Amino acid sequence: MGKCYKVSDWRQYSMDYDCPHKELEPLDKEIEVVSAALRELRKHGMIEHTDYNHDKMSAHRRMVREEFEIPWTAISPRMQRFMYAVSAISQPRTLIAAGIFCGNTFISCAGAAVGAGACYRAERLVGVEIDPERAEMARRNLKSIDTEGVTEIRCEDAVLTAKEFAGNIDMLYLDADGGPEKGKGIYLDILEAAYDRLSPGGLVLAHNSVNCAKRLQRYLEFVRDPAHMRESVNIIVDPEGLEVSVR
Ligand SMILES: C[S@@+](CC[C@H](N)C(=O)[O-])C[C@H]1O[C@@H](n2cnc3c(N)ncnc32)[C@H](O)[C@@H]1O
Repeated sequence: MGKCYKVSDWRQYSMDYDCPHKELEPLDKEIEVVSAALRELRKHGMIEHTDYNHDKMSAHRRMVREEFEIPWTAISPRMQRFMYAVSAISQPRTLIAAGIFCGNTFISCAGAAVGAGACYRAERLVGVEIDPERAEMARRNLKSIDTEGVTEIRCEDAVLTAKEFAGNIDMLYLDADGGPEKGKGIYLDILEAAYDRLSPGGLVLAHNSVNCAKRLQRYLEFVRDPAHMRESVNIIVDPEGLEVSVR
């Protein structure tokens, strides 16, 4: 069992995957839950502070609601805010997001540098989706908001993207599902392919750390071993969970 930050109502806080924009609780409550999760990362020296601009986060959320086609998503409003905030605080210059479906998870990570919620300049933000139709949907979604061309959607196996990425990787987001055989076990393959280029202090975010914990067992053992990652904390603010690890 690794370190974790668990909110008491994480089981009850469940979303309808078909209604991505539905409010699940008062905004103040959502902000407080996310702030407490950020304080936990700060306590473990994984981020330097916990401040992010709430108005920019609201603008980001509004932009996604108005501009994105999202057939379904498992990214809850708490998780969306948390991912935006972690990016706004850590300001990754480079990002690989693996298994992005329609791009909603990607923009949750990249939104602090792209579009209405932008608060810093990034260099290269890459979203990877192996399914061509889904990759095309992600491209359409990103097209209208990424006026500076800092994002790139690649349609390929994220293991290959991670292996061939030139330069340091400041943030790696894992959400690919490797089919019936591998399932979410593919996270470890992607991390291992990226590992030697993860920046010192680079963050790895792994979705489904709770509801897919069994399939992620080897991955979780790897990131919770201090020989591999300096710190790792399971953020349990909803039934999906997000393991956050720092190199
Ligand atoms: C379950 S979806 C992620 C959905 C996301 N959690 C959300 O709520 O929007 C996983 C995605 O990973 C993609 N995928 C599976 N294997 C992959 C691989 N090796 N590289 C890149 N994408 C992959 C699938 O096509 C699928 O769209």
